[in-house]
Amino acid sequence: MVNAIQPPSQNTTTRPRISFLGCGYLGATYAICFAELGYEVVGFDVDAAKIESFNTGVLPMHEPGLPELLKKNLESGRLRFTTDVQAVADFADVHFICVGTPQRKGEHGADLSYIETAVVNLSKHLSRKVLIVGKSTVPVGTAQWVQELVDRHAPEGLGVEVGWSPEFLQESNAMHDVLRPNRIVYASQSEWASQLLKDVHRGILELAAVEDREVPVVETDLATAELVKVAANAFLATKISFINAMADLSEAAGADVVDLARAIGYDQRIGNRFLRAGIGFGGGCLPKDIRALSARAGELGVGESFRFLDEVDSVNTRRRTHTVRAVADLAGRTSGPNGPDLSGVRIAYLGATFKPDTDDIRDSPALDIARRLRSARADVVVYDPEGLENAKAYAPELSFVKTLAEAVADADVVCAMVPWEEFRTLDPEALGRQVAERRILDGMNAFDPEQWRKHGWSYQGIGR
Ligand code: UGA
Repeated sequence: MVNAIQPPSQNTTTRPRISFLGCGYLGATYAICFAELGYEVVGFDVDAAKIESFNTGVLPMHEPGLPELLKKNLESGRLRFTTDVQAVADFADVHFICVGTPQRKGEHGADLSYIETAVVNLSKHLSRKVLIVGKSTVPVGTAQWVQELVDRHAPEGLGVEVGWSPEFLQESNAMHDVLRPNRIVYASQSEWASQLLKDVHRGILELAAVEDREVPVVETDLATAELVKVAANAFLATKISFINAMADLSEAAGADVVDLARAIGYDQRIGNRFLRAGIGFGGGCLPKDIRALSARAGELGVGESFRFLDEVDSVNTRRRTHTVRAVADLAGRTSGPNGPDLSGVRIAYLGATFKPDTDDIRDSPALDIARRLRSARADVVVYDPEGLENAKAYAPELSFVKTLAEAVADADVVCAMVPWEEFRTLDPEALGRQVAERRILDGMNAFDPEQWRKHGWSYQGIGR
């Protein structure tokens, strides 16, 4: 059920018209949520099929709550999507750049070509002074380069300005994170732009006021705004790799990393979030962002201070070989120099996405481990509640089934890898009746080991 929001009154406030360029998980969520906040919005993308899908009220990705909000706001008339950049340039006062900044092929730095294309394309079609605001995650210094691009490509004398406003939305919680963010950060280069950014965010602050909440606003310079985002992601990644390193130590010492994380998390200086040990972090953000930060720090001559991020990355990648070995141990297969031979082992593989409640498989640790198990000749039967289509396209060598029951039938090992609710609530006795052997690898650390052992399972968690 979507929390309905009354659009804040438009009588007394200035309501800039807004465009979001790039309608992936980020831009689409923003476009839909800002229409919900009462703004007139257009979403732009070069992918005509995607735009058609949005305009007909079908969200082309899985994100809880968003399909209902899309339909509602299309009906309100405040939201539309287009592939026509001229229409976008004519319509909006503020343009948010939300395109992807993937890792460059064969390098650690970020690929800024989508930003360049979007900015140049938009600039050429402008006919009045507007504000272009970067939201994509970028290496520090990008905003200045974007301003140069605009100066070069926009018609002369318009005075188009560039600002920056990083986003912190988590897929699977995206709608909440946009409507009710825990902070707003933005940067501009003039009083005019600063006022416009205030007007753009007013809807969020008004909603917070109605709900008796406060949303802190940090107004800063362009470089800091760019850095805030990568700093936040690098910190989160570091937290996860820290607890995963502790998981290795816990395993070696016979301790339980889940209890350990709970115990240290009660210290408010540490906090208990992002301390879930497991198969490591993935997704379209954390892995590439720490690499891009480290690469950019190197370019700016302070690479040494960021060497620890390379180790954060390595700890994370090692989770994958570690997990393959754990599965082999469970199946009673020893590992040689080339890893284990798992031929003849049927694995019920639960989870393909990079985390639950999304269909996103970008840099998914679960999917990568599934492929490694397949390379070790296991028969890997994958089930995922929402990620099957994407996973199938990416890893066609795996077997995919549409139900949990098909996946677990006659399995020699069950690998529960992504904490979807459907997996977290598995009943050890009922599941035990469907498998060939009661062996479970709990890559989510979501089960009570004693419960499973009581029902005759060989249970292996991560770091416990
Ligand atoms: C991340 C950040 O959390 C967002 O604040 C940020 O806006 C976003 O990247 C971005 O840069 O756009 P997201 O990639 O959606 O969000 O996913 P997270 O919820 O952060 O999870 C990232 C990975 O870490 C997942 O693979 C997850 O399973 C893993 N994780 C998370 C752990 O292994 N342990 C934890 O305790 C928490």
